[in-house]
Amino acid sequence: MLRIGLLTSGGDCQALNATMRGIVKTLYRQAGEPVEVYGFEDGYQGLIYERYRMMDNRDFSGLLTRGGTVLGTSRTPFKLLDTPEADGINKVQAMKDTYRKLKLDCLFMLGGNGSTKTANRLSQEGLNVIALPKTIDNDTYGTDMTFGFTSSVEVATRCIDEIHTTASSHGRVFVIEIMGHKVGWIPLYAGVAGGADVILIPEIPYDIENVIRVIEERDKAGSRFTIVVVAEGAISKEEAALSKKEYKKLVAARTTPSVAYDIANEIDKRTGREIRIAVPGHTQRGGTPDAQDRIFATQCGVEAALACLKGKFGVMIAQINGKMTRVPLEEVAGKLKYVDPKGDLVKEAKALGISFGDE
Ligand code: F6P
Repeated sequence: MLRIGLLTSGGDCQALNATMRGIVKTLYRQAGEPVEVYGFEDGYQGLIYERYRMMDNRDFSGLLTRGGTVLGTSRTPFKLLDTPEADGINKVQAMKDTYRKLKLDCLFMLGGNGSTKTANRLSQEGLNVIALPKTIDNDTYGTDMTFGFTSSVEVATRCIDEIHTTASSHGRVFVIEIMGHKVGWIPLYAGVAGGADVILIPEIPYDIENVIRVIEERDKAGSRFTIVVVAEGAISKEEAALSKKEYKKLVAARTTPSVAYDIANEIDKRTGREIRIAVPGHTQRGGTPDAQDRIFATQCGVEAALACLKGKFGVMIAQINGKMTRVPLEEVAGKLKYVDPKGDLVKEAKALGISFGDE
C-alpha cells in the first residue's frame, strides 16, 4: 500500500486541480500496488489540524479544466512557523505527527515560494516531501516556469485588449494594474502581448517624467490614447533608493487603494489628461487553466508521481531549458526568480518602443 498526502498552499491559481490529477492518475497506473490518497484541506492548516479527506479515482475526474483547488488553500507564513498558533499548537510538530499517524510515504505540496520554504523545513525534519511549482507570478527560483502563469497572462492580456478599444475611442490614458508585488513577469508578458505603451515592473524602477514623455510623444504623433501597465509592486527610482523599512512605511501610509492610483494621480497632475484606471485583480487567478498550463501542470504531476515511485524526496519538480527535471528543495527554497532588466524580452520590448519608465 502506498499512502500519499496532497495539499495546495498559498494563493490559488488555475492549474492546481490539473496538477493533482496528474499526480494521482500516474500513481494509480504506475505504483504497482494500491494507493491511498489523503487530501489535506486548506493547505498546511489541514496537515496541522488533521483536516483531511480520503480521495479516490472519482475525485480526480473532470479536474483538468477546473480552476481553483478542490482541497481549498490558505497561507501559513513561513516566518511564523515556529510561533505557536493562537490555541498554543506547535505547527511543525503537529504536521510531523499527522504525517506519521497516517503512515504517509510522501507528501505532495503544490505551492509558491513561502510554501516551498515550509516544505523544505518538513523535509529537513525527516518527512518525504515533493514540492510542485505553483504560482501565477512565475517567480519560483529553480524552474523556468510555474503552473498558473500562462493562464494568468492570458487573463491579463485580455483585459489590456479590452481596455485598448475603449481607450482608443475616448482618447484616454489608461493605467492597468497587473498582479506582481515583488516580480513583474505577468505585467511584462501581458504588457508585450497586449501592446502596452509603458510597462512598469518592480525590477526596473521608473521615473514618472519618462512616463509623461511617452504620453506627450504619442499625443504629438497623433495617438490619442496611451496604455500604461503597472505591476502591483511598481516602484519609482526615489522609492528604490529607500531602505526596505522606509519603503514599507511609505506603502503602509498610502492613502490611495494601490500603486495604479498613485501613478494615475501623478500623470493627472502633470498632464491634465483624462485618465482611467483598470484593476483586473483576482480574475488573474480565476477561471479555467489555458492549454499551456494544462500541459505543464500535467507534466509536473506526472514527474512528481514518478519521483515518488523512485524514492526521490526533498525535491521540487522543475522545468529547465524546456526539460522536466527536479531540483533539491534546499537549493531553491527562499529564493525568488526576478525579471532580468537586461533579459531578451525586456530588450526586445524596448527595441519596439515600449517604455519601462527607466530612460
Ligand atoms: O502570489 C500570487 C498573488 O496573486 C500575487 O500576484 C498577488 O500580489 C497576491 O497573490 C495577492 O494575494 P491575496 O490572495 O492575499 O489577495
